[in-house]
Amino acid sequence: MKTLVIYYSRTGITKKIGQAIASKIQADAEEIVDLKDRKGPWEYLKAGRDAMKRVPAQIAVVKNNPEYYDLVVIGTPVWAGNMACAIRTYISQNKDKIKKLALFCTMGGSGDQNTYAEMESLSGKTAVAKITIKTREAGKPETEARLDEFVKQLSL
Ligand SMILES: Cc1cc2nc3c(=O)[nH]c(=O)nc-3n(C[C@H](O)[C@H](O)[C@H](O)COP(=O)(O)O)c2cc1C
Repeated sequence: MKTLVIYYSRTGITKKIGQAIASKIQADAEEIVDLKDRKGPWEYLKAGRDAMKRVPAQIAVVKNNPEYYDLVVIGTPVWAGNMACAIRTYISQNKDKIKKLALFCTMGGSGDQNTYAEMESLSGKTAVAKITIKTREAGKPETEARLDEFVKQLSL
């Protein structure tokens, strides 16, 4: 099954998980680039507000066409209980090209369920599998085991 892993990451946690998933299943992977600077404390506040208000971001042109894949796995950090703005844009622009969807997110502590519900509703698809990794769990051996379980579900 040809799989594409898509992720947005502001500080590298979601990127780390996305790359781990992609390498476990030899999938292509692509990072979505938000054209807005999201670095400083003021930008942090604005990012949370934008995510909550469902404001899409402007994103850099993507390289891989999701139409050519059987499965697209999309990952986002949870922002104010929702998906990051760049992922909102990606899903809006590509939902009709996605055949089968799986989701992952990273978060400090809560908001994953609402994030998944919004991603499924926006894409018009029910995810075949989902996994949430808390920021402090990234890179731990038990997380590796959970990621192995997640990728097994992708091929069912
Ligand atoms: C603007 C903003 C809002 C956030 N809101 C939440 C939240 O609602 N719930 C939560 O558990 N973590 C929240 N976080 C923490 C991130 O989801 C978490 O640190 C994530 O792992 C960061 O991923 P990244 O390194 O890929 O950017 C927020 C982070 C940012 C920047």
